[in-house]
Amino acid sequence: MIGDKKVLFSGMQATGNLTLGNYLGALKNWISLSDEYECFYSVVDMHSITVRQNPAELRKRARALLTLYIAAGLDPKKNCIYYQSHVSGHAELAWILNCFTYMGELNRMTQFKDKSAKHADNINAGLFTYPVLMAADILLYQADVVPVGIDQMQHLELTRDVAQRFNHIYGNVFTVPEAYIGKVGAKIMSLQEPAKKMSKSDENPNASIYLMDEPDVIMRKCKRAVTDSEAQILYRKEQPGVKNLIDIYSACTGKTPDEVVKEFDGRGYGDFKVAVGEAVVSVLKPLQDEVERLNQDKAYIDGIIKENAEKANYYAMKTLRKVQKKVGFPERVR
Ligand code: TYM
Repeated sequence: MIGDKKVLFSGMQATGNLTLGNYLGALKNWISLSDEYECFYSVVDMHSITVRQNPAELRKRARALLTLYIAAGLDPKKNCIYYQSHVSGHAELAWILNCFTYMGELNRMTQFKDKSAKHADNINAGLFTYPVLMAADILLYQADVVPVGIDQMQHLELTRDVAQRFNHIYGNVFTVPEAYIGKVGAKIMSLQEPAKKMSKSDENPNASIYLMDEPDVIMRKCKRAVTDSEAQILYRKEQPGVKNLIDIYSACTGKTPDEVVKEFDGRGYGDFKVAVGEAVVSVLKPLQDEVERLNQDKAYIDGIIKENAEKANYYAMKTLRKVQKKVGFPERVR
């Protein structure tokens, strides 16, 4: 708790172009929860270097992501929006938690398996211990709730296990966090291969809608989305392409999947795809305009970066000092 509010932590990697999946699965929920909780939203740039990055590009993307958080509607005076690499406590706590996490647990992580298959020439130790850094991110702020898409559930479970293990040995040090998964949009699928999740790293640009895609590009991608030959708009797993488009439309308009099915009863896929495209544009265009506006105001964003790093450091250090003491590190001499 901070004051009378529960704590929320979440983050996104500044890698690749953010997709509609990141927005609907995570960012959108961050905004709806931000009044209720004391929130920490991190640009997790330390996670990004588990895969080789171009330094100038990473810096640029990290700034763009931080700006996007604000553009999406998170007030940086109320929500702590900051770069993970500006708070050294993340790395320090991660080291300690490494000593409370088993190799066997990390070996089971599907994201590790996927990423090591994709980057077979660079299966580094950071990629392996990635979930421990993620646990440190969350536990450092004593977060009660962590809004994420379904793909992060396994990491969340591990975070809970590590927190409980630590608490079991040392008493109640960490809040054990709960995942928050949105009702719609928690797993947006590829527009080209609806059995796969929509991903920043997909090589086919038509598979993903990027948050910065121009309206005509968004429309084109929606029109080209893979459906089926059933010729009926129903929300069921036998029609994964159509189901995904219903999810997208539903998350963008606030209508339930049932309402969407009724709305499009008897209509063709062509009409539906145009409506999905329009709904996505109506959500992304204002976001893009706001990013544009904020990009003109360098001093404002710089101020936010500085202020919020200090705030994050303050809370991070509180937890870190407590943990260091529990595990037996010598006290500092003042
Ligand atoms: P990342 O950067 O891959 O994704 C950011 C958020 O977007 C969600 N997401 C999706 N949701 C629905 N459909 C999709 N197709 C889709 N693709 C991505 C993710 O679930 C995530 O919520 N390891 C994390 C970042 C992280 C983090 C943390 C998150 C680091 N530390 C602490 C929460 C708490 C990641 O790589 O997310």
